[in-house]
Amino acid sequence: MAEGVFGRSDAEIDLLVRGMRSGIAVVGFGYIGTVIGAVLADRGWPVTGIDVRQAVVDEINLGKTTVPEPGLGELVADSVRVGRLRATTDFGALADNDFVIVTVGTPLGPDFEPIVDDIKAAAKAVGAHLRVGHLVILKSTVPPDTTENIVRPILEETSGLRAGVDFGLAFCPERLAEGQAIFELTSIPVVVGAVDERSARACSTLWRHALGVDSVVVDDPRTAEMVKLADNLWVDLNVALANELAKVCDRLGMDALQVIEAANTMPKGGRDANILRPSMGVGGYCLTKDPWFVNHLGQSVGLELAIPRTSRTVNDTMPAYTYGLLTELLAEQGKVIETSKVAVLGIAFKNNTGDCRLTPTKYVVALLEESGCQLSVHDPWVPDEEAHTVTKIPLTPDIESAVKDADALMVLAGHREFHQVPLVRLAELTAAGCVFLDGRNSFDPAAVRAAGFIYKGIGR
Ligand SMILES: NC(=O)c1ccc[n+]([C@@H]2O[C@H](COP(=O)([O-])OP(=O)(O)OC[C@H]3O[C@@H](n4cnc5c(N)ncnc54)[C@H](O)[C@@H]3O)[C@@H](O)[C@H]2O)c1
Repeated sequence: MAEGVFGRSDAEIDLLVRGMRSGIAVVGFGYIGTVIGAVLADRGWPVTGIDVRQAVVDEINLGKTTVPEPGLGELVADSVRVGRLRATTDFGALADNDFVIVTVGTPLGPDFEPIVDDIKAAAKAVGAHLRVGHLVILKSTVPPDTTENIVRPILEETSGLRAGVDFGLAFCPERLAEGQAIFELTSIPVVVGAVDERSARACSTLWRHALGVDSVVVDDPRTAEMVKLADNLWVDLNVALANELAKVCDRLGMDALQVIEAANTMPKGGRDANILRPSMGVGGYCLTKDPWFVNHLGQSVGLELAIPRTSRTVNDTMPAYTYGLLTELLAEQGKVIETSKVAVLGIAFKNNTGDCRLTPTKYVVALLEESGCQLSVHDPWVPDEEAHTVTKIPLTPDIESAVKDADALMVLAGHREFHQVPLVRLAELTAAGCVFLDGRNSFDPAAVRAAGFIYKGIGR
């Protein structure tokens, strides 16, 4: 039975946390839960993953994970082997843990509204096993007031305990990016919005010792909930800006990356401008939905916001735009798409991950399939099962076979493996005058051209 962390003095919490005697339960062992759980276990904490999916639990207990994050497999294997990480479907395991971190999913509904059903179910299950001294930390991305108006009443009703009195409660958004999740988890400051000061301080103590990061304490959970939405709206809008600049630069025959790099040297508001990079699309579980959460939030208070809709619309045009670039490039080579061989490199939603959830690459692949071209698809990160969600064409396991005799290479995810094959080797394998469409602007145009390809990036 855990000793309880909430309600103790700061010095006691500090000692308890530093002694790594506090167990940490992570409820929802999907992408984010597994990253957090494995990192905390690797850093010395006893971690219990709780998930409703038996298959996920079984896999973790075998020391395995299908979450396609660089370095995560090793952390899971090692932590399970030394006995610091285990998983279960039984919420009774909460009794052995002082901290309860909730990372269940919050998908988008058919009318672009947030679905918080899993949050409610998880809160109910946690509440049924809640004890005095627990600190519950919600990390899922949620609309403002979810912690206070949905999670808190459920926890209090099911447990008979009071938040801020008997147990601690806070919202701490997860702001890591897939592909560099482990590094970011242990380097990005954590925003803490708690129902009371003691919960906030206990959270900050945990993050300082467990992850080695600072906390940014805001007034309350709803502010912290809004912070996460503001961050992701900023990313989506910023990429939309870069994408529209890229389209203009394409027409004008300019290099958008040069424009952006130079534009970013302008100081503004105490720091430099930071226009992000254009690409063939924005996807994944967060950026495709969180702007809609903001849009929905605006509607709920009688506001018709323009920005979320605009950023989503602009970014959603990019796959078709990228496909259009390909057909133009082929035409310049006297070829048509119908009789060309096209090799797609990378179908994950971004570089160096195998996650295909809401990947923009799916729309490019669909257009290629419809075109009747001869298509091969290669992605070293994506398991076959996940690949089926993008295309029915079986993945070509090795890059050399995938690109053989291709008239066009389309890099839709710029995985590091693609940079390890010498460009001249790729050029030897492909057809003469092969087009190299770099959908992630992850290659050096001069090097690609020097190898004999016709290079084109997004906006360059
Ligand atoms: N994926 C990202 O890069 C990212 C980054 C920051 C924040 N987030 C946010 O974090 C949250 C989780 O995202 P994810 O990508 O890990 O989702 P996910 O779908 O991979 O994982 C959610 C997990 O919760 C489990 N679950 C569902 N209901 C449950 C319940 N009642 N009890 C216990 N487990 C339950 C599911 O089985 C699943 O394993 C979302 O709100 C997301 O918006 C995600």
